[in-house]
Amino acid sequence: MQITIRQLQIFEAIVETHSYSHAAEYLHMTQPAVSMQMKQLERNIGLVLLERRGKRIELTDSGKRIHKYIHEFVKQYDDLLEGIQEEKEKGTGRIKVSAATTANHLITQMIANFAKTHSNISVALEITNRRKLIDQLQKFEPDIVIMGEPPAKLDLEFDILIPNPLVMISHSSHSLANKKTIGFDEVSQYEFIAREQGSGTRMAIERFFKEQKAEFKSNLEMGSNEAIKHAVIAGLGLGIVSLHTIKLELEAKKLVILDAEHFPLERYWYIIRRKGKHLLPAVKSFQDFVLKEAKVYAKDYERFVQ
Ligand code: PGA
Repeated sequence: MQITIRQLQIFEAIVETHSYSHAAEYLHMTQPAVSMQMKQLERNIGLVLLERRGKRIELTDSGKRIHKYIHEFVKQYDDLLEGIQEEKEKGTGRIKVSAATTANHLITQMIANFAKTHSNISVALEITNRRKLIDQLQKFEPDIVIMGEPPAKLDLEFDILIPNPLVMISHSSHSLANKKTIGFDEVSQYEFIAREQGSGTRMAIERFFKEQKAEFKSNLEMGSNEAIKHAVIAGLGLGIVSLHTIKLELEAKKLVILDAEHFPLERYWYIIRRKGKHLLPAVKSFQDFVLKEAKVYAKDYERFVQ
């Protein structure tokens, strides 16, 4: 008995579409070629599998019994082809990553380290604020997003990456700079240099002040953490920023973390993917890498908030 995989695929397509012509279209074949192959299959196995009922092609009783094996076989064969393709693509590809403005340093570090061991995978990075990231996720644009707090209304897959502590900062000669345990009532009287509306950091700070029944007062609004740091260093006010944005300034002693009550605020970085977006091998490699490497990154910051 001689059966070819092609004949089994043709049989499956006819059963699915109930039509020789639709099966032919689906398989990019001519209708006579489909009919001929089907007849040959029936002849080879010695059973009639299909019969015409009006305009539709239906399974005979034997056809029904045999179909379940053929259906399973064709599915497994398709999985095999997909597996081979994925294996070939492993270690190659292009990944689209988007990250919150505040995660800029974290993600750039991850990409730089990833590139050292994955030279065949290129990463396109876009940095933007929370509001725009949600918009991109809605459109299924990025493969991976790094941000704080996954948006509740989208169907997402996510993992917590590492803590993202929000610290209160001033320049090193500010009157609060060397004070121990500054009460929240005291710091909340100050005006802050804040991120723009639409920023996740801003959202978290405003929510916290509201929980404390205090008003978050901002005298200056800036579109980036860089700008906030410069303004705080210039003595224009206090700031509340992610610890991950101020490493160099802390090391150079240009900024200090204030010992303010309730601070650092607890926040986390998440690695997020849209459910239903195919996980390419290159994306999976990157995701696994970031989940592992981010822990090393976080460790380096522990010394600043002991
Ligand atoms: P941001 O995002 O850069 O928009 O403030 C940070 C976050 O989502 O926590």
